[in-house]
Amino acid sequence: MSAHDHPSTSFADAIGVFDSGVGGLSVLRAIRDALPLENLVYVADSGHAPYGDKTEALITERTLTVGNWLASSGVKAITVACNTATVVAIRHLREQIHIPVVAIEPAIKPAVNITRSGVVAVLATTQTLQSESVARLCQAYGEGKRILLQACPGWVEAVEQADLDSPHTQALLRQFVEPLIHQGVDTLVLGCTHYPFLRNTLQQIVGEQVVLIDPAVAVATELTRRLANNRHVHTKTSGTTRFFTTGNVLHVQQVVSHLWGDTAIVETMS
Ligand code: DGL
Repeated sequence: MSAHDHPSTSFADAIGVFDSGVGGLSVLRAIRDALPLENLVYVADSGHAPYGDKTEALITERTLTVGNWLASSGVKAITVACNTATVVAIRHLREQIHIPVVAIEPAIKPAVNITRSGVVAVLATTQTLQSESVARLCQAYGEGKRILLQACPGWVEAVEQADLDSPHTQALLRQFVEPLIHQGVDTLVLGCTHYPFLRNTLQQIVGEQVVLIDPAVAVATELTRRLANNRHVHTKTSGTTRFFTTGNVLHVQQVVSHLWGDTAIVETMS
């Protein structure tokens, strides 16, 4: 979108949230719970998902396109509900837009704090695990611990199909987590916002004693704090939630409705 184009839609005073696809709904849920009065606008960039195996240039271009679309339509804050977009492109987004931007990144610090075995694993996309941000977090908090980095190809695609527990998905989950458990991992960082939707199936595979960490609630808390600092918190009776996508509207609508647990109307991001 050029600087002269503006979205046909106006979201004055709403909070924008986006991800490569439907994974960021796990963060949107935490934001909805924390801020029931706010209007929320969610963008699933499904026309370009998954981000995790794309180039940095493409992920940056998509993050800026969606971020600028939300900002120029009037949102008062943006939450980047995508670890991959955060670690690759958050600096560029913050340079371009001048409203609060809250972003998710893998919860390595809390994992290291709670592990009893001293071995934790970060499950995320290839791009996230290769990033400087993850290297920095491992260096900052990993002293005396083992931090295993595990990419999980196929998991994002399963969630994008709302396939959370078929035999195929179960086999995909086992393939990556069982070897980690054999290495003594007792804490798994869900470092991709799609993965919390696989939580129940994952927990059955690894057992109740393994802790799964999802920072979505921490992100919602940080967003609430930033809005309060900027006197942006809403005071009306209940907020609306609107969904947009760059992908196939009917398919995304079906999957969003399934994962959100309510019938959702999905519109085209244009
Ligand atoms: N949900 C995203 C993340 O948190 C991106 C997944 C993908 O598109 O590969 O990393």
